[in-house]
Amino acid sequence: MRIGILGTGDLAATLGQAWARSGHHVIIAGRSQARAELTANVIGDQARALAAEDLAAQSDVIVIAVAWEGLDNALTVAQAPEGAFAGKTVIDCTNALDFTTGLLILSTGSAAQHISHVATGAHVVKALHLYAGQSWLDPHVSQPRTVAICGDDQRSLDTTSALIGDLGASAAVIGGLDHARQLEDVAGFVISVVAAGHNPATAVPSVHPAA
Ligand SMILES: NC(=O)c1ccc[n+]([C@@H]2O[C@H](COP(=O)([O-])OP(=O)(O)OC[C@H]3O[C@@H](n4cnc5c(N)ncnc54)[C@H](OP(=O)(O)O)[C@@H]3O)[C@@H](O)[C@H]2O)c1
Repeated sequence: MRIGILGTGDLAATLGQAWARSGHHVIIAGRSQARAELTANVIGDQARALAAEDLAAQSDVIVIAVAWEGLDNALTVAQAPEGAFAGKTVIDCTNALDFTTGLLILSTGSAAQHISHVATGAHVVKALHLYAGQSWLDPHVSQPRTVAICGDDQRSLDTTSALIGDLGASAAVIGGLDHARQLEDVAGFVISVVAAGHNPATAVPSVHPAA
């Protein structure tokens, strides 16, 4: 699959490497062509950089890995408001969080719903915003990982679940995109529990679903 990543930073580089190892072709784009080329080089032979306005046309799926503050600008340079993402699966990994408090920046809604409004016709799935990108490259992670995701388009949920499987994790679809705020708040919860000196994995009950 051709995975187009809008974003040129740490998450783009780490997810890009992990998916390249699974045989995917990775395309990197952002506001800076020079940084996109650097990041594509870090990923290796299965990656290339493109101008942001060309990303969608060359990608089967688009992954948003941009700082919240730069999200609207990045969507604009990728021509998402003009419909460049229409009909595409768009996986939103952003965290619209105040990292000092762990509280969401948006008073209502979610970053994923914002993308859905701005990126005309995109099929947005919230996913992969919780785990550190570097963790997808860590060969020592042995415990099973579940990535909770949400979205309104079944085909896009299936595509996202398959890509999460390629990272070695399982996807859990928790509902439609109206669940995105809940998922985004979990990232803040994790930050707050860590700040209080505890492992967030011990802060939720261990519940085995009925078979
Ligand atoms: N890193 C992780 O492990 C991780 C894990 C899960 C989720 N996330 C989320 O993924 C997103 C990216 O994280 P990151 O760690 O990759 O951040 P990062 O290394 O700081 O990279 C930020 C990216 O956003 C772009 N950006 C910043 N301001 C911009 C603007 N005004 N206009 C256009 N682009 C702009 C940067 O472009 P320039 O290089 O041109 O500034 C860069 O491509 C964040 O929302 C973060 O919360 C990160």
